[in-house]
Amino acid sequence: MKKNTKLYETVAALLAPGKGILAADESDGTAGLRLAMVNLPNEPENRQDFREILFTAPGIEEYLSGVIMYDSSIRNFTDDGVAFPDVLTASGIVPGIKVDLGTREIHGFKGEVVTQGLDNLTERFADYYNLGARFAKWRMVVNIDEDDTPTDEILKMNCVMMTRYAQIAQEAGIVPIVEPEVIHTGDHSLELAEKVTTKTLQILFSTLIEYKVDLQGLILKSSMVLAGDKYAEQTSPEAVANATLRTFHMSVPHDCAGIVFLSGGQTPERSTKNLNAIAKMGEQPWPITYSFSRAIEEPVLKAWGGKKENEDKAKEALLEACKANSLASLGKL
Ligand code: G3H
Repeated sequence: MKKNTKLYETVAALLAPGKGILAADESDGTAGLRLAMVNLPNEPENRQDFREILFTAPGIEEYLSGVIMYDSSIRNFTDDGVAFPDVLTASGIVPGIKVDLGTREIHGFKGEVVTQGLDNLTERFADYYNLGARFAKWRMVVNIDEDDTPTDEILKMNCVMMTRYAQIAQEAGIVPIVEPEVIHTGDHSLELAEKVTTKTLQILFSTLIEYKVDLQGLILKSSMVLAGDKYAEQTSPEAVANATLRTFHMSVPHDCAGIVFLSGGQTPERSTKNLNAIAKMGEQPWPITYSFSRAIEEPVLKAWGGKKENEDKAKEALLEACKANSLASLGKL
């Protein structure tokens, strides 16, 4: 297989030590849920204002290597008429794009979902590349239910589709982030979360290898291994770090370019502490950092509250959140 070395340049930029990736890629619907946290209606102007705060905060390039956008935001502009991807590129931040089209339930498989979005993906990637995107994200969702969920059948189906996405991305010169999110809501134990995450990652990487995806030009975006949020015994950062790293060592080949974490609905403080505990465990075969959405955006939204006069405060909150997570990614919090 001929390797595309451009992918490695992007990977190196994205995984620069002490930096992370901001996932600002909420669909227009999900962006509405974020805005609702500060009682703002889900209108295009509010979504644009919030993204403009995130993308133009002075100094974020010290902590952020990349930003993942959604179709409507990669086509959007600042109030001064500069395209969002150009604003990021000008600060040395790599623009990225979420390309999956969300999940659908599957007849006959209660509680499981499959990710949509392979149709016309080659053409969509060509368009996104022209708009400035150099990396992409595809998320699959793994729900845990005590006895029988997830099933091997649906894990395999999702992994094949995710693999097809990764092939098309690499062919287009775009680094694929593969994101199997093991959902943290529920009453499952830490042990079960570890078992399911390990199995999911093992199936994913064996499928990626089977279909000749270049792992050196690919980034894994993973959940941390956590007991369900309704499980009686919540997990300490050290226990999360041990379970998460055990999982990776059982499933992630060493030539995978790197691993970034989603926050998965943990509080900002908890995500950061867990990341710090993971980094404190010492050097691993892969660079490991963060790619949070909610854990970074929540404090920014609260500082902003939709008010023009709070924009500078919101940018400072963003800088503070990114700095804390960047320190945590080095185990220096
Ligand atoms: O798909 C989810 C995002 O990429 C990460 O979001 O940090 O809020 O879990 P989160």
